[in-house]
Amino acid sequence: MKRVLSGIQPSGDLHLGNYFGMMSRMIKYQEENDLFCFIVNYHALTTIKDKELLASNTLNAAMDFIALGLDPDRSTFWIQSDVPQVCESTWLLSNIVNVGLLDRATSYKDKLARGMTANVGLYSYPILMASDILLFGGEIVPVGKDQKQHLEMTRDIAIRFNQTFGDVFVIPEPDIEKTTQLVPGIDGQKMSKSYGNMIPIFGSEKSIRKQFMSIITDSAGINEPKDTHTPLFQLYCLFLNEDGQKDLADRFATPGLRYGDVKKELFEYFWNQFEPYRDKREYLSNHKDYVLDKLKEGSEKAGTVADIYLTKAREAMGLHYGETSV
Ligand code: ADP
Ligand code: TRP
Repeated sequence: MKRVLSGIQPSGDLHLGNYFGMMSRMIKYQEENDLFCFIVNYHALTTIKDKELLASNTLNAAMDFIALGLDPDRSTFWIQSDVPQVCESTWLLSNIVNVGLLDRATSYKDKLARGMTANVGLYSYPILMASDILLFGGEIVPVGKDQKQHLEMTRDIAIRFNQTFGDVFVIPEPDIEKTTQLVPGIDGQKMSKSYGNMIPIFGSEKSIRKQFMSIITDSAGINEPKDTHTPLFQLYCLFLNEDGQKDLADRFATPGLRYGDVKKELFEYFWNQFEPYRDKREYLSNHKDYVLDKLKEGSEKAGTVADIYLTKAREAMGLHYGETSV
């Protein structure tokens, strides 16, 4: 049984990229592994400065995850800031990270290019992420392709720490789905909460249908074959098995296909697939006390593990200086 661990930012509504890139895999992993999963609200502070928004996004993300199948009785599920030990270990790890490593972070560079302010939190984000993984002994970390570099940094940090201070941390393995490319947004770029191009998992039928109908297409005429390297084709494939994907490719190659019809069909697939989760989600929003209780239990379990690794790291670094030091 492996410890499988991952986190998701509550920086906006969760979307199909989050679901297919990370959440559905985590939910599957819980069947045969020791799953650790958390909502990374400390990370979201790098971009959200509105307290009500952060608080409501955090609880919503937790309810989304449980509605989609994460079982808080079987797995350890918590809100990042309820185990503040990660902040201490972030500081400990900061002292073995060269700024050159952070300078090379493509996600940081992308965010700056999109006009975000270069605050220190955003810059040191990968160290907090490393801390999230190392402090809980994460062995396997399922993430989408965009997090590959952050995972490599985490491994570098763990290896360097162990070489400098002795073996304390587990070296985690990334788990990036080979077959799924990054899920495209309706504009064809990576689907992301911050790019305004997403299809949310939960929301009103009208607004989600509108998103599906807005998926960008080319100007191929009805009687021309259609390109399959397009967001419409790729998004549709997420809902199909291999045979279904082949059939879809055939339909794209055959003249007569109307993009509008395909979009409507795809919406129906989506809407039906998520139907049971919507009912559960509705139930949870009316039973928030249950969710809060489960999150509290999760943070207690996670805190116990964090304390073990943190104590080892403090000892290894010389912060325990005598009989009475803690
Ligand atoms: P966002 O870019 O929307 O803010 P996050 O950074 O919170 O998403 O990502 C949460 C998880 O979902 C990560 O594991 C990330 O790799 C995955 N993910 C996010 N967007 C996509 C996407 N478009 N395709 C595949 N996986 C994604
Ligand atoms: N940086 C990740 C993202 O944006 C979220 C994250 C924070 C994470 N801490 C983590 C993912 C630890 C895996 C493990 O998607």
